[in-house]
Amino acid sequence: MINHQSLATRRSGFLMIRKSVSASAPGKIILSGEHFVVHGSYSVAAAINKRVLVKASDTEGKSRIVSENEASNLSTDDGNFRAIKSVARTIISRYDSEEKARFELSVASEIPPGSGLGSSAAVAVATAAALSGYLGLSLSKKEISEIAFEGEKSVHGNPSGLDNQACLYGGLVLFKKGNEVERISLTSPFHLLVVYSGKKRSTGKLVRRVGEKRERFPNYFLRLATSASGISFEVAKYCKSGDLEKLGSLFTTSQAQLSWIGVSTEFIDDLIESVCESDEVFGAKITGAGGGGSIIAAVKRGYEDVVLCRVSKRFPVSFVTEIPQEGLRWEKNQMS
Ligand code: MEV
Repeated sequence: MINHQSLATRRSGFLMIRKSVSASAPGKIILSGEHFVVHGSYSVAAAINKRVLVKASDTEGKSRIVSENEASNLSTDDGNFRAIKSVARTIISRYDSEEKARFELSVASEIPPGSGLGSSAAVAVATAAALSGYLGLSLSKKEISEIAFEGEKSVHGNPSGLDNQACLYGGLVLFKKGNEVERISLTSPFHLLVVYSGKKRSTGKLVRRVGEKRERFPNYFLRLATSASGISFEVAKYCKSGDLEKLGSLFTTSQAQLSWIGVSTEFIDDLIESVCESDEVFGAKITGAGGGGSIIAAVKRGYEDVVLCRVSKRFPVSFVTEIPQEGLRWEKNQMS
């Protein structure tokens, strides 16, 4: 669990008066249309039950970024670190906050970085909210989304904007590049299995690779991209009604498309095959950029924990998630 204890209190061992603002955002999974969304297709994404907490507070020295746990992974060449730096720069330059711009940003994450589960997008959203709050700016969700998107660009090069919107708004969303997300209400909420392969990868590189594939096979790519939009509409429909069997078979179709554009790997294919060995699993696919990262599976209701237990033996970072409706959340302000 994320630790909400005041940093100042913990570090110094006695109480200091410090102003701080904390915000958290969930990670995300993509149910359909990843990669094709960069080229204009519709995509469906959802929040997961793992979050990133960012706290902005006073500091006596230079501004700094502090990692509160291993998953925050803030080495300087890491995506999370670059996202935070970009978000902080954008806020300071856009809102002319130089004079108050000394702060500490501490990050506690439950999302493995490089896992395809939206850790950099969640970090960017939570940082934009916490830091703007700390600087006394009251930004709209749209402004926070724009700033987080700049952060995502600094990490991934040419992202669609899907990840930051999914983390910001939470719930299940239908998205097309350049549009606002459309939230989809769930009449029969369900759970999905998420399995992290343990293989980190770079979203930016994979997006570039898919772009090259498009250049080499423009007509076939266009057909797949059109079909990816069709799949996304169907996915939205079956998510709404909670029909996991249909959802699973759409995952299988979607995975075939992702394989063709070159973002699956032998390791991921084997992982999907082994997860789908259970009769209770209706279908599985890569979620996010692929090349490693994570997969999601639609599992018969009531059997999620049984399948999780089996899969966790080989892949310890596996979990079952509902689709939490809450995206960005301002945490209780910590005035100690
Ligand atoms: C990455 O989570 C999703 C991609 O579609 C890239 C993007 O939409 O920016 C691969």
